[in-house]
Amino acid sequence: MDTDVFQLRDVHFSYLGKYTALCGIDITIEKGRRIAIIGANGSGKSTLLQILDGLIFPDRGTIAAFGSEMRAAEFNDQGFSANFRKRVGFVFQNPDIQLFCPSVKEDILFGPLQLKEDKREIEKRLERLVDILGIKELLGRAPHQLSIGEKRKVAIASTLIIDPEVLLLDEPTAGLDPLTTRHIIDLLIRENEAGKTIVTSTHDLHIVEEIADKVFVFSRDKKIVRSGSPEEILKDTAFLEEHNLVHIHAHKHNGKTHVHPHEHPSHDHTH
Ligand SMILES: Nc1ncnc2c1ncn2[C@@H]1O[C@H](COP(=O)(O)OP(=O)(O)OP(=O)(O)O)[C@@H](O)[C@H]1O
Ligand SMILES: [Mg+2]
Repeated sequence: MDTDVFQLRDVHFSYLGKYTALCGIDITIEKGRRIAIIGANGSGKSTLLQILDGLIFPDRGTIAAFGSEMRAAEFNDQGFSANFRKRVGFVFQNPDIQLFCPSVKEDILFGPLQLKEDKREIEKRLERLVDILGIKELLGRAPHQLSIGEKRKVAIASTLIIDPEVLLLDEPTAGLDPLTTRHIIDLLIRENEAGKTIVTSTHDLHIVEEIADKVFVFSRDKKIVRSGSPEEILKDTAFLEEHNLVHIHAHKHNGKTHVHPHEHPSHDHTH
C-alpha cells in the first residue's frame, strides 16, 4: 500500500554466506510510525536496519521501499541512490563509520552538500541541530578526537540535517548521558510528529515507550518472535527475561544474595 514505507517478505540474510543474521523476516512499516527493534546482542537488529537502508540486500525474500522492490542494481544508479539517500537517513551504531571529514562542521554538512541542497536552508538546519544537541563548541574540532558520546551526537546531526522522511537509528542513545538522551528523544518525537517515520534499535527499555508505538522483538535465532505495543511487551517480564532484555539483578538482603529481574521503571520501582 502507498502508506507503507517498508514491506519485507520472508527476508533471509547471512554474512559471507555462512553467518546467519536474519531468518524469515516478515514485517511492514507504515508511514509515520515509530518503531523500536529490540533483542539480544547478535540477534539481527543492525543487519535489519542495513537492509532497510539499502546497504545490503536479502539472500532470499523481498524488500520493498515506498512501494517498489529494492535491488542492488538500482542502487548502482546515481540518481536512484541520491533520491533514496535523501528520503532515508541512517545513524550507524558505530559513529566512526559516519565521520570522516577533517572537522565536525564539514562532516555534518557533507551529506546535504552532496545532495546539492540549498545552502541557506542547510545553515538553518545546522543552527537548530547544533543548538538542540549542544555541539556548538565541537564544530571546529576533528571528529576522531571526540569522546564516543560526542561522536554519536555529531553522527545524529549529520543524518538529521538531510531532513529525510525516514530515520533509521541504531542504538542512538547508547553511552549518552541522561540529559543528552532526553534531548535526543524529544528531537525524535518532534521529527515523528512532523511526519517522519522513525525506526530505532535499542537495548534501553526505558526509552521504548517514548520512541515507539510498535515494537519488534528479535530472538537469538534471528527471527522476529513478537510484535506489539510497547506497553504490552514491556509488562511481560518473563518474555523479556527469556530474550535477554532485562537485567537479572542481584542484591543482598539480611546477608543473603537474592536474584530477581530488574523492574521496568513505569511499574512500581522498589530498588
Ligand atoms: N560483518 C559481519 N560479518 C560476519 N558476521 C556478522 C557481521 N556483522 C554481523 N554478523 C553476525 O550477524 C548476526 C547479527 O548481527 P547484528 O549486528 O545484526 O546483531 P545486533 O542485534 O545488531 O547486535 P548488537 O546488539 O550487538 O548490536 C550476529 O550473529 C553477528 O555475529
Ligand atoms: Mg547492532
